Amino acid sequence: MNNEYNSENISSFLYSLILVERPDRILEVGAGHTTHFITKAIEDIQNQNTDHIDEVTRTELFYKKTKGYNPTIDCVDYKLPKNFSVKNVTFYEEDFDNWIDKQNKKFDFVFVDADGGQKYIDWFEKIFKRLDDNGIIIFHSTTNCLWGSHFVLKMKCDIRMNNEFEMITFNEPHKKEQSSFTVFKRKGPKPIWHIGA
Ligand SMILES: C[S@@+](CC[C@H](N)C(=O)[O-])C[C@H]1O[C@@H](n2cnc3c(N)ncnc32)[C@H](O)[C@@H]1O
Repeated sequence: MNNEYNSENISSFLYSLILVERPDRILEVGAGHTTHFITKAIEDIQNQNTDHIDEVTRTELFYKKTKGYNPTIDCVDYKLPKNFSVKNVTFYEEDFDNWIDKQNKKFDFVFVDADGGQKYIDWFEKIFKRLDDNGIIIFHSTTNCLWGSHFVLKMKCDIRMNNEFEMITFNEPHKKEQSSFTVFKRKGPKPIWHIGA
């Protein structure tokens, strides 16, 4: 599988997080390697092919969503890779700013990997308005570049001000480019990180 965007770690991370979180309405901004890992996670849940999760987690998740699990996956990319198509994903070949402004739907799992971080502050605002309680947003390539670092610092200040979400950044120091990602979780009625129904 072609991976020209340094997304090998974030891909596995998305796969594992979907196995645990079982989101219902997924949005990806920036198609590629990661799109395949998102759909593979869903396929493995649907086929109950999750024996590689540890015993305790697997038992808990059995009671979550397995049979009948059929989330929607929207993917927005204004220049999709040539001949790119992934089963069960609805693609929108459009600028994300235009696309998100037209949306009324809500999402519970959003992955953003586009535009080198320049628009992350604006996009966070727009996505957060459409994010369910306990919903997750992951931004690829954050603290490793100027725009992304600025975004992360601003978000840390926002947490102090409004206490609406939690965030954590993962660094991949062995890489030269796109060597970090930051995960946000909107606060809601459930504990912020939990397993089970
Ligand atoms: C870094 S690549 C995505 C890599 C992919 N996630 C992977 O793992 O291979 C970024 C993609 O975002 C798209 N993109 C950049 N800016 C965009 C925007 N404003 N709206 C929609 N798509 C955009 C580009 O066309 C490109 O395909």
